[in-house]
Amino acid sequence: MDDLNALREELLAAVESADSAEALEELRVSALGKKGRITGLMKTLGQLSPEERRETGQALNAVKDAVASAMDSRKSALENVELEGQLAAETVDVTLPVRPEAEGRLHPISQTLDEIVAILGEMGFSIAEGPDIEDDFHNFTALNIPPEHPARQMHDTFYLPERQDGSRMVLRTHTSPVQIRTMQAAMASKDGSGMPLRIIAPGRTYRCDSDITHTPMFHQVEGLVVDKTGRIHMGHLKGCLIEFVRAYFEIADVPARFRPSHFPFTEPSAEMDIGCTRKGGELKIGAGDDWLEILGCGMVNPKVLAACGIDPAEYQGFAFGIGIERLAMLKYGIPDLRTFFDADLRWLKHYGFVPLEVPTLFRGLTP
Ligand code: PHE
Repeated sequence: MDDLNALREELLAAVESADSAEALEELRVSALGKKGRITGLMKTLGQLSPEERRETGQALNAVKDAVASAMDSRKSALENVELEGQLAAETVDVTLPVRPEAEGRLHPISQTLDEIVAILGEMGFSIAEGPDIEDDFHNFTALNIPPEHPARQMHDTFYLPERQDGSRMVLRTHTSPVQIRTMQAAMASKDGSGMPLRIIAPGRTYRCDSDITHTPMFHQVEGLVVDKTGRIHMGHLKGCLIEFVRAYFEIADVPARFRPSHFPFTEPSAEMDIGCTRKGGELKIGAGDDWLEILGCGMVNPKVLAACGIDPAEYQGFAFGIGIERLAMLKYGIPDLRTFFDADLRWLKHYGFVPLEVPTLFRGLTP
């Protein structure tokens, strides 16, 4: 019995001083494992007399239980210590300054487009999209551009290789094909729920041209409104675009005029000019004695409506096309269009915008 008490004290002390899960496990094997000391003593019970066996057996079991439960509590104590150590070591010091990071800039095209979308979105336009690679019908024919029209000539349009049926796809030369796709889709919706239409279609456009004011790829935003005849007229077109240029250039009284022009897909057609001065070679937008052309527009040609299956007696609308680069150059004083696509980081650092910064210059529509 004394031996057992001594063993018990020895093992309990060893458990208490075990300083790791591994040490504890070693101890368990050496005491309670197959060849462990307590297990060994259990095996000797058979040699004892029945009374001794009962008494010693009970005492031995008590030692075994005491050691096993001491091991359990030591084990969870060790785990707690480990967890606390880990929590302390892995604390994030939120007061440390952030590490310097290379900061990107928004390209002026993205910034300008965001501003345009914000203004026209507030007016109730939603965004529509179409493919960059178009067929002849959507890019030309449906827009009342007949086959002999100069816009179709090779020098303007990028053609893709001939297809099996002899036709050739084109890189869209403007965003106007999205008008056609949107009107067709509206007509395809059985219950006429597609009408009225109020969409803008921003995107890439392509023309085979390159100089200080032309690049083979550029961006436009198309606008299209279609509603029942009598509900949409030229006055709405003018009001909408005047409001747009005032909000975009942030000049409340910028003078605007509409000059008769020609586009095959609008009738009547106009080009919109805004007031400016060019004193000393410097362009300034606002009241002045000069005019600056900024976009093309007009009432949707009835032939275009008909080409989309819309009855021109029942519906009419207006459309406009804006060059995004041109608006960016005018507002942010960027002199050469080609630099937009040079991918020069110094240029982007100079003309680009800090992302996530609320566009400070955009104040929305005039109330
Ligand atoms: N699609 C014309 C262009 O690319 C612009 C435009 C659009 C004009 C809509 C009138 C109406 O030049």
